[in-house]
Amino acid sequence: MNPPVCPFDVAIVGDCCLDLVLYGLPDILPPERELQAESMAMRIGGSATISAHNLSCLGNAVGFVFASADDSFGQFCRTRLNAAKVDTTRAVDRRGGATGVTVILQHAHLRHMFTHAGVIASLTLEDIDLDYVCRARHFHMASYYLQRGLTPDIPELLRRIKGRGLTISMDPNDDPDNTWDRTALDALQYVDVFMPNENEACRITGEDNLENAIRFLVQRVPLLVIKRGAQGASAFKSADSWHVPAYPVRVVDAIGAGDSFDAGFLHGYLRDWTVERCLEFGNLTGAWSTTASGGTDAFFERESQEKLWQAWSLRGTGSSLRKKHGSRSGIH
Ligand SMILES: Nc1ncnc2c1ncn2[C@@H]1O[C@H](COP(=O)(O)OP(=O)(O)O)[C@@H](O)[C@H]1O
Ligand SMILES: [Mg+2]
Repeated sequence: MNPPVCPFDVAIVGDCCLDLVLYGLPDILPPERELQAESMAMRIGGSATISAHNLSCLGNAVGFVFASADDSFGQFCRTRLNAAKVDTTRAVDRRGGATGVTVILQHAHLRHMFTHAGVIASLTLEDIDLDYVCRARHFHMASYYLQRGLTPDIPELLRRIKGRGLTISMDPNDDPDNTWDRTALDALQYVDVFMPNENEACRITGEDNLENAIRFLVQRVPLLVIKRGAQGASAFKSADSWHVPAYPVRVVDAIGAGDSFDAGFLHGYLRDWTVERCLEFGNLTGAWSTTASGGTDAFFERESQEKLWQAWSLRGTGSSLRKKHGSRSGIH
């Protein structure tokens, strides 16, 4: 029998928005003042969009389902995704609506983010062509909570996709309502790789303590990956755990670091790399995204792609890697 034809390495369903980034504003924002930003950048954003764009720039065939409107922001997002060779033929066009927008105030040590989800919240299960999605080997779900129209049906979507034999990863991202609906835990039974950051792991499980959150999650997913900002990332599989420190870089902004980490980790996962090698590459791609404005710039140009692969081939072996076996905690 011929092997199944998979025109896509990865299918992604998730959020697409415009990121408007303002740099150099004060941390404290007094009202009724004309506060001046030092510079600004307009980029494509949304966790799923950044992962889709960067996975494609790393050399993977990506099909991406999202909702955008026929406004200039929506056109901007589609143009940029297509320039990166992401397939957007099944994206949903919400005529007359508003494409999502996030305004990010990037301060020296913290950021403010303001999102108008617009048509992001309008995507429903009926909008997703399962035959299209299942032309991929792997399915990635991003921004569980932001897509309100889809959120209650995500466990069912994942059940159907799992039934068609794809492997599945999920990045929950933040819950803007801060309610952390526990249907996300139902969805985990279909997930092969779960990729929250430290805060999301705690919130989704209702635990204050990260070790307890990990103990809870590792029983529910085959592979748990915790993103830990400038500390790097850890992974947990049954009784085994790994930690890889962050790749040192000069940070411009941390927008899309987690989504770029997801892209790098999944690039390795799709190629059956070891867990520590996936972590190491995820740390490189996560760090790489912080070196340019927004979440995608560091991956788009051929020159920056070549530098990324060069950095990967020059990486230190052994010394930058710490593997820990036989421990559930693995928190360093
Ligand atoms: N300051 C940093 N220096 C180097 N790498 C970073 C830095 N911040 C983030 N990263 C990389 O990006 C990954 C994701 O960042 P994190 O902030 O944990 O996720 P999220 O963006 O989802 O909140 C980290 O695990 C790390 O690999
Ligand atoms: Mg994230």
